[in-house]
Amino acid sequence: MNSLELYERAKSILVQGGSSASRSSLVFHPYPPSIESGLGARIVDADGNSYIDWMMAFGALPLGHAHPQIVAAVTQAAARGIHFGAASLVEIELAEEIHAIVPAAEKVRFCNSGTEAVMAGIRLARGVTGRRKILKFEGHYHGWTDSMLVTTNAQRIATLGHPNNPVPIIDSSGIPPGAVEDTIIVPWNDVDALRRVMLDRGREIACVITEGVMANTGVIAPLDGYLQSVQSLCKSYDVLFYLDETCTGFRVAPGGCAELYGLDPDLISFGKALGQGFPLAALCGRSSVMEGLEWGKVMHYGTFNACRSLAAAALAGLREQRRDANSGFKRLTTTGNHLSNGLREVFASQRRHPVICQNVGGLLQVFFTEAPRISDFRDYCRVVDSEKFTRFANLLRTRGIYVNPSNALHWVTSVSHSENDVEQTVRAVEGCLAELR
Ligand SMILES: Cc1ncc(COP(=O)(O)O)c(C=O)c1O
Repeated sequence: MNSLELYERAKSILVQGGSSASRSSLVFHPYPPSIESGLGARIVDADGNSYIDWMMAFGALPLGHAHPQIVAAVTQAAARGIHFGAASLVEIELAEEIHAIVPAAEKVRFCNSGTEAVMAGIRLARGVTGRRKILKFEGHYHGWTDSMLVTTNAQRIATLGHPNNPVPIIDSSGIPPGAVEDTIIVPWNDVDALRRVMLDRGREIACVITEGVMANTGVIAPLDGYLQSVQSLCKSYDVLFYLDETCTGFRVAPGGCAELYGLDPDLISFGKALGQGFPLAALCGRSSVMEGLEWGKVMHYGTFNACRSLAAAALAGLREQRRDANSGFKRLTTTGNHLSNGLREVFASQRRHPVICQNVGGLLQVFFTEAPRISDFRDYCRVVDSEKFTRFANLLRTRGIYVNPSNALHWVTSVSHSENDVEQTVRAVEGCLAELR
């Protein structure tokens, strides 16, 4: 069956023909290709088309597809028992490896997804501090749990209200207002806005949760010193500083944004790249905070936590990336910089479309805009033509380049991407811009 036939079949049994709206015909036009196999940097669909994959399962595959070390680790572990739901050596080794890379991860608790890690982290922050309020930033996504689904999606700028008093926008039906009444929304990359709110309500806030790089509104880096200011404001009000590294962890630097920007968070979440394509995530942090989970004082359970064979894959992945003085991690960044610079050169050499590329190492995104840079969610809502990006990404796929057509997501590199892949992508983008309306 080809992709179209599979899509027709899927629609009669799977909601919207798939397992998440971000993979559906909402963004993949006219329908999503059905992917049959992947090896290294490439994937092949049911129609026999091969693509250079810059989406890498939403960032979950830092080594690329079917990496031999990962395949070997998971199959060898699984052959001796897939999961025991019991204490095992590999969970200790994996936690030790994480701590060696991220010193702020003094204690580790495994779970299964970024969403779950945040759910546990928020409950823990409230339990440890005895405070109810959680502060999150506009345009940041922390998974689909009720209390965090506020102002994550791009909106008409007028609906966002004044930056001094943002209108919180609940992003889904089915969320009772009570679930978000303790969620405070503040614009990001704006220290004064945060300072004002902390002055007013700092003593009610359990934690400030932030992405280290805004990676769910394209790719927007923190302004110089911004995250350090967030951290020190947190300290001044005894608020826990919670860095959500689901996207950035083990990607933008070995130790994620904590390392890149010199931060010392109280809580950190990891997911995506940690699991090497498998559902494995972690909540980590300062011992004095994490110990709130002891004896179930703050409750967090999970049948599949630290699933043995998946933990073996995660461990093999981190060791592979750290090999030869972090060569894997370095490669993610080098490839990201080469690709971004190549795109910038193409963008500068044409006049048809105002378009820019923003990247932090191996995390990048393209914005169709007249603006020289996008530095917050409100800029994105006001001046980025995200529909044009969707057309561009779908066109790019016809030239053998696979990226998620949602502008709010991003492109990621893997260790498997070669300079040749970068070059081919840049040339495809050039051709695409000439064709794009
Ligand atoms: C920063 C951030 N936090 C949390 C999540 C949720 O992770 P998951 O999709 O594994 O539940 C995501 C997912 O994209 C994310 O980008």
